[in-house]
Amino acid sequence: MAQFERRILCIGGGHVGGPTMAMVAARCPRYEVTVVDVNGERIQAWQTDSLPIYEPGLLEVVKQARGRNLFFSTDIAAAIDRAEVIFVSVNTPTKTFGEGAGKAPDLQYWEKTARTIVEASRGNKIVVEKSTLPVRTAHAMERILNSNRKGLRFEVLSNPEFLSEGTAIRDLEHPDRVLIGSHETPDGVAARDVLIEIYAHWVPREQIVTSDIWSAELSKLASNAFLAQRISSINSISALCERTAADVVEVTRAIGLDGRIGKRFLEASVGFGGSCFKKDILSLVYICESYGLDEVARYWESVVSINEYQKKRFVQTMIRAMFDTVAEKRIALLGFAFKKDTADTRESAALLVARKLIEERAVVVVTDPKALANARADLRDAPEGRVVFEKDPYLAARGSHALAVLTEWDLYRSLDYRAMFDSMEKPAFVFDGRNILDHEALHAIGFNVFPIGKPPLKHF
Ligand code: NAD
Ligand code: UGA
Repeated sequence: MAQFERRILCIGGGHVGGPTMAMVAARCPRYEVTVVDVNGERIQAWQTDSLPIYEPGLLEVVKQARGRNLFFSTDIAAAIDRAEVIFVSVNTPTKTFGEGAGKAPDLQYWEKTARTIVEASRGNKIVVEKSTLPVRTAHAMERILNSNRKGLRFEVLSNPEFLSEGTAIRDLEHPDRVLIGSHETPDGVAARDVLIEIYAHWVPREQIVTSDIWSAELSKLASNAFLAQRISSINSISALCERTAADVVEVTRAIGLDGRIGKRFLEASVGFGGSCFKKDILSLVYICESYGLDEVARYWESVVSINEYQKKRFVQTMIRAMFDTVAEKRIALLGFAFKKDTADTRESAALLVARKLIEERAVVVVTDPKALANARADLRDAPEGRVVFEKDPYLAARGSHALAVLTEWDLYRSLDYRAMFDSMEKPAFVFDGRNILDHEALHAIGFNVFPIGKPPLKHF
């Protein structure tokens, strides 16, 4: 394969590794790009048109390069040996055991990867942290890699990923910025230049930002913390709106018009989900605690606490509104994914809502256009008969006492709510956890409507 100018590898072919490498391969046809993963099924699926993750526009990008200069493999050792630049994009979930359990990131997959790289390498390499990691992880990575006895030299860079699920392709194609952290040594700068050259194939040079490694690592955690903090801030205000008859949408509009605050990422909701916000904030909290910065830790921890509060508050509103009991009531959950345009249900608010309703002995009917398989896996331990999975939202609504919108899928904006109302038990309720429906119109149909952060519209 000598015809390729560079050989790039990504270890970890998940939500980040797959789409990111597909974009690199599509935009850099003269580079060989290989994605490896320990999960053989995932690698198999990447080679078909049923990709392992759902992401609008992803298949088209994969198809531009697959078989030309984009390859998928489970032969990790061989791929490491061939590559000059190795991105590491393995998962870094919250630790569930031992020291730091429930807060610190579990770095076992990360560390295993470093050791595998050392074992399989016969030449010097650039290793790029793509996963989100605690500040100063690169130091540990460098120690493991450079304590090899083969005389090999590994240069570590931090290149955190800022894409969001559901818009990954757009985010990769037109990133707000690409961040590259490196050492200011001749080798560090040379490695950084290689990475800059890859991104410069499609990202304007002024949007490729460089920094030291520690700042790059911390910028990723801080970025997610700031984004999540905006949601918790507006969600905390939504609780006050519900008590005072103020309208959170009006408040958001008014404050968002201040250019210093801005409009984006200020939508009140049932609570943020996804695999990263909670884990990354808890990771930040853990680092702060480990440096004795307890006040800083408590500040960021409150972002997660408000989110937990918001999810629980939503269920409490449902139960109170439905005459303090939902036992044996059929309740349709419209959406289970943590946001629209993804099948991902990790940390989805819907999961907590479903579990709480099941605890209350309701019969929960889950519908979602893409996430039903994941929802089934998430709720596999639910007691017999307590959960039904239904692709068709109209069938989900039939015979239900309530609808709860938990994911902002576009299709839910334009359902025939009159037909749904007619097929439901009365009084019928809508709990709009995303404020995407026309509340006045639903009220006029006959629903009792409970939005987020607005006074309810009731018939009694
Ligand atoms: P993911 O779980 O979808 O994918 C990770 C993949 O790594 C899995 O397929 C797993 O099998 C593989 N893997 C684990 N250990 C391995 C090993 N030793 N060798 C080879 N493969 C291995 O996770 P993700 O969502 O892609 O996230 C990866 C990292 O990127 C995390 O640190 C996350 O915080 C960060 N991140 C995620 C997003 C997102 O939107 N999901 C965005 C930005 C950053
Ligand atoms: C988030 C960040 O937006 C990305 O920049 C980052 O790369 C990524 O985490 C990561 O590190 O994994 P993601 O979790 O995929 O991306 O999706 P978001 O669009 O951020 O949504 C997260 C959650 O917040 C969703 O549940 C969403 O519905 C909710 N949200 C978002 C709100 O409740 N209100 C808003 O205004 C925006």
